[in-house]
Amino acid sequence: MAHHDQLPSEGPRDHGPRGAVITPALAAIKDAQSLDDLYGVFNANHFTAGWHKKRPSLWNEPTVAFTPRHWRYEEATAALDRAGEWVGTDLAERRNLLMFNPVGDNDYATVRTVVSAYQMIKPGEYARAHRHTPNALRLILDAEPGLYTVVDGVKLAMNAGDVLLTPNWCWHSHYNEGKANGYWLDFLDVPLVHLLEPMFYEQYPGDLQPVTSEPNGHPFAYSRAWVLEEIARREADTDGIRRLTLPTRDYIPTIELSYLRIPGGCETAARRSTASRIVAVTSGRGKARIGDLHAEWRRGDVLAIPSWTTFEFGAADDSLLFEVSDEPTLRMLGFYRSSVMNA
Ligand SMILES: [Fe+2]
Repeated sequence: MAHHDQLPSEGPRDHGPRGAVITPALAAIKDAQSLDDLYGVFNANHFTAGWHKKRPSLWNEPTVAFTPRHWRYEEATAALDRAGEWVGTDLAERRNLLMFNPVGDNDYATVRTVVSAYQMIKPGEYARAHRHTPNALRLILDAEPGLYTVVDGVKLAMNAGDVLLTPNWCWHSHYNEGKANGYWLDFLDVPLVHLLEPMFYEQYPGDLQPVTSEPNGHPFAYSRAWVLEEIARREADTDGIRRLTLPTRDYIPTIELSYLRIPGGCETAARRSTASRIVAVTSGRGKARIGDLHAEWRRGDVLAIPSWTTFEFGAADDSLLFEVSDEPTLRMLGFYRSSVMNA
């Protein structure tokens, strides 16, 4: 009979001086006999006094929870090969091995805004098509002819050293029509999407998207040969290091992709910035210091560089490093800062 929910009160309701209903909270605030009483009322009503909060909300410079980390390709391939004895692409949406930073209850993000994973696909397998709002990209580590990705109907070959983009809301699926297992690294801004919450995900009806074109070149694909040619044209800095940033901003605005070519025997300057970075070793070997982590890296290894953590790399052999960073996001928001540390 009632056309709206009624408060369980009887008779005329109390009103304050400005006509506002005197709620239990308002009554308790008025009845408080001390500041401590008041804090109790605040807490029960989801207020907190700015001068009495449990922890500070501002601090002098970043206090970063994420930790420097090193993952080894050799361990990841062995783990994926073993898992492949039991897990097929029919069972798993993707046969991938995520690299999570052991901080708090995090069991997903590699650095604050980006997750990275090793992925393996066996001959004859395919990973069905889906799309999602998080941006994704891949660095191919080991591949034989016959390994490819389809992005919105465009067939793109996956050769060792290539980088392929699957931007926000593009359908993507992976195929191995070759004779050997294919291995690559995935990078996604999923943790950023988790923070901001605009997550959407969809599976392709019928699993497989049709191939509509197979172009020779495409802005979603960067071959190793092209990268080597381009980076050779860049001017070396005073330490002999060349840097190439891929022109991917129009497709993936949150993440910057760069290559760093470090000749054997050379070292980068120690620096830090507010960006979070993940570095993958495309070729070569060397050492890195990231905060208090000392790592010896080889081809295919992955290193996590959290925000505001000092890092430097030194190459034993001529090396090519691939860096994924959230620097454009920080820059867009006006939060980017960096400094070169004094030796
Ligand atoms: Fe995906």
